Amino acid sequence: MRPEPHVFVVVGATGDLTARSLIPALYRLLADDKGECYLLGAATTVQDDAAFQARGVEALVGAGIAAATAEAWARDHLFYEPVGKGPNGYGGLIRRVQAMESEHGLAGNRVIYLALPPSVFPTAIEAIGSAGLQDGPGWTRLVIEKPFGSDLTSAQELNRIVYQYFTEDEVYRIDHYLGKETVQNLMFFRFANPVFEASWNRALIERVEITVAETLGVGTRGRYYDEVGIIRDMIQSHLTQLLTLVAMEPPPAFTASAIRDEKVKVLRSIRGLPPDSLIFGQYGAGVVQGRATPAYRTVAGVDPDSATPTFAAARVWVDNWRWQGVPFFLRTGKALGRRITEIAVIFRRPPVCLVHGKPDECHTDVLYVTLQPDEGFSLEIEVKEPGDMGAARTVPLRFSYGDAFGEIPDAYETLLADVLEGDQTLFVRGDEVEEAWRLYTPALGYDLPVHPYAAGTWGPDEAQALLGVGARPWATGD
Ligand code: BG6
Repeated sequence: MRPEPHVFVVVGATGDLTARSLIPALYRLLADDKGECYLLGAATTVQDDAAFQARGVEALVGAGIAAATAEAWARDHLFYEPVGKGPNGYGGLIRRVQAMESEHGLAGNRVIYLALPPSVFPTAIEAIGSAGLQDGPGWTRLVIEKPFGSDLTSAQELNRIVYQYFTEDEVYRIDHYLGKETVQNLMFFRFANPVFEASWNRALIERVEITVAETLGVGTRGRYYDEVGIIRDMIQSHLTQLLTLVAMEPPPAFTASAIRDEKVKVLRSIRGLPPDSLIFGQYGAGVVQGRATPAYRTVAGVDPDSATPTFAAARVWVDNWRWQGVPFFLRTGKALGRRITEIAVIFRRPPVCLVHGKPDECHTDVLYVTLQPDEGFSLEIEVKEPGDMGAARTVPLRFSYGDAFGEIPDAYETLLADVLEGDQTLFVRGDEVEEAWRLYTPALGYDLPVHPYAAGTWGPDEAQALLGVGARPWATGD
């Protein structure tokens, strides 16, 4: 990849994301003459280029780059322009962008990256629009971090503001899960291996589970999290993206529009979620992997009487030809016992059980697609133990990314490379984000119990009951 020369404007550049993720990722993508990029940080803080460059150097050194190399790169590539608050505050920014373009002889290609708290997206987009940042002589790409809106109405309103100044093919809505290598590979796995795709349907699959378990609590993000909660923070975005990739039909082509069309069709096929399809939980004090974790309600910024869920499990039905009658279970939580993101596809039992005699004791094959921490696939199958005809054992057929390919790229690097190349496949389209909100917005208003669970466990027991009476437990566990 060698992206076309451009100015990369980061609005909200004094925040954590720029130093932690954007600067190191751009460095890795573009250093050593792999592309001409000038990053122009913008924020309301008044500071000069040198101060911004010093922060950039710190970030690069933190990412393992030698100080002298980091300093030289920062001097040539990192710049800063303060902006005013409100919709008319970006006059200086557009003048600076134009000056940089003429100084470096650029064609006017611009990336505009909003690294801002969601509440200020609308004002920032209006300010960008009225300054005319989107009207450069080259291409323009607007990158927006999640969450895109906080419910259906706000997402529709945000799309409306975006479309005043940008067309959909200029907009890159980030869900960083789509940048994870195993998530992308899910599509390849399904559509490049007919042996799996042929069994990927209600005839052979009993249920699908998607688990995103985190060991960390909310840490320093108490104030943000207490307003947002788990449906907005994780379910509407990351888990639902995983669900669409598991459930989608084969696209007619591997293009952004064909793939995103299929994902939207899945969302449109999902039945509305009634209150009894959701379980909420909130962590109390406990021990996570030997570390004492204080209760959610004691975290700084969290209301001591907060009813914000830090755990959710949902039962979702996809009402289409392929998936009718197959439940998809989504589960995610903070301060759980083990960090793992995994999709478990549970196949149906054989109709006749040769080994155990009773069909309901018969083994089921389970395919685990693990996204983190150890990316790979594992298909659990049943084999006969040597000797005794009645003795069976479950063994894994395993593939590990690490063993096969070594280190895999970071999600942000993958997504930024795609922005620079103009490939929208791994970004969420406007209609897609609205469909996802259509699904979960009613649930935001449900008055459901928030079950307590101890930090370090797998969440409240009620999440097991959601699977149904007598159902086998969650496949992803200790
Ligand atoms: C973010 C959420 O989008 O994703 C966080 O806001 C969450 O609350 C994070 O911790 C999880 O991402 P990852 O890549 O660590 O699984």
